[in-house]
Amino acid sequence: MSAIALVDMGDLAPYAGRERIVEIRPYTETLWVKWDDGHEARFSWIWLRDHCACAACRHPTTRERLFELYDLSLPLAAPRVLLEPEGALQLRWQKDGQEEHVTRYDPAWLRRRAYEPAHAQNGPHEGWDASMAGRLPRFNFDEVQERGDALRNWIQALLQHGVALISGAPARPGELARFAESIAPIYETNFGRIFDVQSKPNPNNAAYTSLGLELHVDLPNHPSPPDIQLLFCIANEAEGGDSTLADGLWIAERLRKEAPQDFQVLTTLPIDFRFQDAEVDIRFKTPLIELSPQGDFIGIRFNNWIRDSLLLPPEEVETFYRAYQRLWKELRDERNHIQLRLQAGDLLAFDNRRVLHGRTAFTATGARHLQGCYLQRSMVESRLRILERNAK
Ligand code: OGA
Ligand code: ZN
Ligand code: ZN
Repeated sequence: MSAIALVDMGDLAPYAGRERIVEIRPYTETLWVKWDDGHEARFSWIWLRDHCACAACRHPTTRERLFELYDLSLPLAAPRVLLEPEGALQLRWQKDGQEEHVTRYDPAWLRRRAYEPAHAQNGPHEGWDASMAGRLPRFNFDEVQERGDALRNWIQALLQHGVALISGAPARPGELARFAESIAPIYETNFGRIFDVQSKPNPNNAAYTSLGLELHVDLPNHPSPPDIQLLFCIANEAEGGDSTLADGLWIAERLRKEAPQDFQVLTTLPIDFRFQDAEVDIRFKTPLIELSPQGDFIGIRFNNWIRDSLLLPPEEVETFYRAYQRLWKELRDERNHIQLRLQAGDLLAFDNRRVLHGRTAFTATGARHLQGCYLQRSMVESRLRILERNAK
C-alpha cells in the first residue's frame, strides 16, 4: 500500500512513507529529528532553508530550485519550529523580528535525506572474480521486453555487477537498435550508432579482424568513454571467438592492496590514448585507473592497441612499464576471468568503464557477426528510476 505525501516536495520520485517524526529538538545551528523507526538525524538551518519546496522556492512546474541562498547571512538564525498535527514539520523563518517565510517538510521525504556515510560513496564497492561465472545475472529476452520486474532486475544487475546477459532474442540485425532505444538514447561514437563486429576487409579496428582481443575497454581515447556497452550476437559459428570478461573494480582493489606502488603509478600518471583512421584522430591523456577524490574506483582504461606513444621523462618510463605489466598480469590471471561463448540471440551488457572484455581468435570456419552499441549510464539509471516510479 503506498502512503500519501503530507507535503508536496516537488519530487517525482516516490517518497511518501509511513515514517513519522516523533521528536524534534532545535539547537543553535541544527535541528535534531527523531522518527518513529528509531532513526535520528541532524539538519543544519541553512540546509533546511535551502531545501524549502514552497512555490516561491521551487518552481511548481519545472520542480527546479528558485530559491537563491546568496543573500543569506550565515550562520542562519534558528526559525520557530513546530510539528503540525498531521505530522508535517513546519519552520517559520524570521528576519528583523518579522516572520519572513514558512517552510514545510514531509517527514518521510526528510527521512530519506538523513545523512549516512553511504551518501559519500561512489558506486558499488563489491567487485567479482572468476566465481562470478556461476552467478552471472541471466535474463530472458521476452520477459525483459515486457518492461516489468525482469527489465528492472536486469538494469539493477547490470549497474550493480557491471555485467548481465539476456538470452533468447531474435538473432537478426536491427533487433539490438530497437531494444537499446527502448532503454535509452543510443550513444553514437566514431564507430557509428550501431557497429557491426565482423572480420572486414581494410579494418580500422582490431575488433573488425579475426584476431584474438586481449581484455580491454572500448574507446579509452575519449574524455568520457562509453559507459554501457551492448554486444548482441547474431551468429557465432566460427571456431574460436569465445568471450572473456574481468572486473576492473576487483582488479584495481587487488592492486591497491598487493602492489600499492604500482597502483599509485596507475592512478596518477597520465598516459596518452589515441585512435586514428582516415576520418578521425581522437586523443585523450589520463591515468589508466581513475579514482574519485575520495579514492573510490571510477574506471579503468586498459586497451593496449590504442595506447599512444608514451611521452614521459626517460627516468619514469620503466616505472610506468613495470606498473603496466603488473596490471596486465592481473588481467591475464584466469582467477579473475569469466569465460562464456555467446550464442545467437544473446545480448551481453556490461559497464565499459569498469568491466573489461575480450575474445579468442576465430577462424573462417563459420559466420561470426555481432552488433554493438553504447548507452549512457546516467540514462540507463534514469530508465530504472522511471520504471520504479511507475511501479509504485
Ligand atoms: C568490440 C569487441 C568482442 C567480440 O567490438 O569492441 O571487443 O567478441 N568485440 O568480438
Ligand atoms: Zn519557500
Ligand atoms: Zn571491445
